Amino acid sequence: MSTTPEERLDVSMTINGSRYRATVEARRTLADFIREDAQLPGTKLGCEHGVCGACTVLLDDLPARSCLTLAVQAEGRQIRTVESLADGQELNHLQRAFREQHGLQCGFCTAGFLMTATALLEENATPTREEIVETMSGSLCRCTGYQTIISAIEQAAAEGQSDTEDDQ
Ligand code: FES
Ligand code: FES
Repeated sequence: MSTTPEERLDVSMTINGSRYRATVEARRTLADFIREDAQLPGTKLGCEHGVCGACTVLLDDLPARSCLTLAVQAEGRQIRTVESLADGQELNHLQRAFREQHGLQCGFCTAGFLMTATALLEENATPTREEIVETMSGSLCRCTGYQTIISAIEQAAAEGQSDTEDDQ
């Protein structure tokens, strides 16, 4: 039996460690679910067709364009948004590096870059500059010229490495 776009379905997922449930139209995007149903506006919508990367969240730890993902496709899955990074008012090391390296101006793209970089550093704690550039090449920023974003991720990787060494 097929589902029509207007048909309403129950959906339930974990976002940043909390459970969210709603009854939504089958065509509702994950981005709209996160921003409107879950009231987490940190995830931004730019192009709404998979090009800019502003809407990137982590879906079961992998970056996903939430504008191209339906909410019902996230049923039972784990989502992380930019709101998961800071500890209260305390920015995490990647966010601090963006601020220190001037990796943001208007900030509209920043959540998407942060989540993509989070996934990169979780998979590869010591990426080369080339690996960072390649991973970030799928996201668009209209303000920064990218060099500062790349430098921020390099800084965060270096700091993560020194934290690891301190722990040994
Ligand atoms: S808003 Fe999703 S990729 Fe641009
Ligand atoms: S900081 Fe403005 S779009 Fe990237």
